[in-house]
Amino acid sequence: MRIVRRKTELEAALAQWRAAGGSIAFVPTMGNLHAGHLHLVDTAKMRAARVVVSIFVNPTQFGPGEDLAAYPRTPELDVERLRDHQADLLYLPDAADVYPDDGQPATFVEVPGLSEQLCGKFRPGHFRGVATVVCKLLNRVRPDLALFGQKDFQQLTVIRKMVRDLDMAVTIMGVPTVREPSGLAMSSRNAYLSPEEKEHASLIFHTLSRAAEAVREGERDYPRIERKATEALEAGGFTVDYVSIRRQRDLAAPSAEDDALVILAAAHLGRARLIDNILISLDTTR
Ligand code: PAF
Repeated sequence: MRIVRRKTELEAALAQWRAAGGSIAFVPTMGNLHAGHLHLVDTAKMRAARVVVSIFVNPTQFGPGEDLAAYPRTPELDVERLRDHQADLLYLPDAADVYPDDGQPATFVEVPGLSEQLCGKFRPGHFRGVATVVCKLLNRVRPDLALFGQKDFQQLTVIRKMVRDLDMAVTIMGVPTVREPSGLAMSSRNAYLSPEEKEHASLIFHTLSRAAEAVREGERDYPRIERKATEALEAGGFTVDYVSIRRQRDLAAPSAEDDALVILAAAHLGRARLIDNILISLDTTR
């Protein structure tokens, strides 16, 4: 696996591969790689001739008072894991490489509508930072395919919309969430949990699973389901930002005709802010 730290080196390596033909898949990450990230790499390997991974803890997607400084960084371990999973190239830039001009970009990518709701309401500016860095990384790597975890479902929706609106020539693939045996979604932020909290944190998955089951069984009072799920999490010691049932396509409130829904939640436990979601497919012809 080649490791490059500068945009110019990245472009030179990619130019060689492009000249030789063959497709390129890209997995952007913030590092501290866990089984969820490695599943993205494995999926990418099956779909393209070359796999590029980036590790960059992007400052523009963290708000003031958020965990930018504390975000877990494990570069040596990440390199080892990526070698084991046969990634072809790791792009490991610093902030000056991604954001020249003293880290002060004048241009940002905004995806209004999708970005201010759900997590965006609690993390103002977060999706602007995500869309901007993902746009820059996609412009640098110019992959055929880019893979993102479905755990960050709102992020995936924002990125799909950006790519569509800006005519970016890349296929975006959402990859199902990888979970701990307890059901807890894999996340770098699980590192903030004590072993007891980590075990308890699976309540978020079990609560969403119960709510999703109620919808599948025909319950249509979504505010009631959301309220019940919120209460269950609060009773379990979580501080809940939201539990919400939306349609998958654009995260709008579902109508009776919508058959592809998602129930999403964000909640705090100890030092960690956790997010999770479950996709729901309904048979609306019944
Ligand atoms: O999901 C992440 O790890 C980040 O938000 C991403 C997509 C790498 C952008 O910094």
